[in-house]
Amino acid sequence: MSLLIRGGRIITATDDHVADVYCAGETITRIEPDIDPKTLPQKDLEIVDATGKYVFPGFIDPHVHIHLPFMGTHAADDYESASRAALAGGTTTVIEMICPGPADEPWDAFEVWKSKADGISAMDYTFHMSVVRFDESARQQFRRIVDAGVASFKVFLAYKGALDLSDEDLFAAMKLARELGVIVTAHCENAEAIDAMQKSLLAEGKTGPEWHGPSRPPVVEASGVHHICSFAALLGTHVYTVHTSCDDAVREALAARYRGVDVWIEAVAPHLVLDESYAERGNFLGAKYVMSPPLREKRNQDVLWNGLRSRAISTIGTDHAPFRFEDQKQMGRDAFTKIPNGISSIQERVDLVHTHGVMVGRMDLNTMVDACSTQAARIFGMYPRKGTVQVGSDADLVVYDPAYRGKFSLDGSHSRVDYNAYEGWDRIGRPVVVTVRGKIQARDGQFVGTLGRGQFIAREATH
Ligand code: URP
Ligand code: ZN
Ligand code: ZN
Repeated sequence: MSLLIRGGRIITATDDHVADVYCAGETITRIEPDIDPKTLPQKDLEIVDATGKYVFPGFIDPHVHIHLPFMGTHAADDYESASRAALAGGTTTVIEMICPGPADEPWDAFEVWKSKADGISAMDYTFHMSVVRFDESARQQFRRIVDAGVASFKVFLAYKGALDLSDEDLFAAMKLARELGVIVTAHCENAEAIDAMQKSLLAEGKTGPEWHGPSRPPVVEASGVHHICSFAALLGTHVYTVHTSCDDAVREALAARYRGVDVWIEAVAPHLVLDESYAERGNFLGAKYVMSPPLREKRNQDVLWNGLRSRAISTIGTDHAPFRFEDQKQMGRDAFTKIPNGISSIQERVDLVHTHGVMVGRMDLNTMVDACSTQAARIFGMYPRKGTVQVGSDADLVVYDPAYRGKFSLDGSHSRVDYNAYEGWDRIGRPVVVTVRGKIQARDGQFVGTLGRGQFIAREATH
């Protein structure tokens, strides 16, 4: 298996130049102008003409949920549908959150989550390990999980009684993370405040999806960011705020960074392009847009885009969490607190960033690559194997046509969710060839690859 991608404009986080890329087997082995195909071994040589196209490193989504038992149901995708969707949209590696319940054993959860991907996934994958309980037995299991290559933890300050941690356990988990050199990714919203506000809104008869946002305003998220950063300051643990949605939360993280805390900030696609008015749509349609943290006032989008452009915000993920409108979102007809939280975006992320970021001048192509690929690889211990186009890196490549014009739509979506949050929106650009370690897995939005080709990427603790 060998692949020659000819004449494309290679874009990394720092460089932009025209050259050919040759991949022998699973690895990039040559990047040079005008490689003559006649000089290459001819057996199984595939040639892709990338003239007029970009050649990006495979995009990495640092925040997805695929197997997710949550709020009385399960997220709608599995590794078959999620990897078809991811690859059609240019994402070649995902980091999935392992989210067990407090009664589950962490090592068992790791094995369950891994078994859902092994032999099925068409994209490469790795995990963040959620800490939802901490005791001596859990501590030993977390050590083993880190040794097995899962070099990042996840903690939830939200979801009272389901996933949230007591401060005592949070402190202990962060202390262990510091000792092991793993980064702690954190959902930063204060669970107690949300619980109290949800109860009083419901008591006032405010039950519709439009009340989800008011039950967890920006200050709740800012308080969560402040909290995790305070523990990080005490312990020296490196932290990463997931799905950071608003001005107040970004400011808290930056203020902590200026105090010396090692904190990285993630934005996710829905918060960059959707605002609170979507969750306020009538006839319960707002339920499609219920996620946490909630969609915010539109002005927050500029803060997120500017944070990305200045690289103060490091990554763009999706927080892909797909729940069908037809039945799953309906579970919250009588109370917004029962609407499964989440939006599907795994297929749309890269094109949304190209359309709403690059094409309108909010960021350049290098920053798009940095935020959608390179930083995730660096922060989570996969660089330079992933996250760049260089000799020796995995041949995960996206040949991207910036001249394509189309629409985002459920028609053409590979996720099993029954609506597209971006339905009918203009779409500028699309991946035309997507490779995973040298093999073409998607073309023109269609999955053409092999299920089971994806590999678990074991990561070293680098923090
Ligand atoms: O609404 C969301 N974000 N659902 C998935 C779970 C989480 O908090 O990331
Ligand atoms: Zn979350
Ligand atoms: Zn999430």
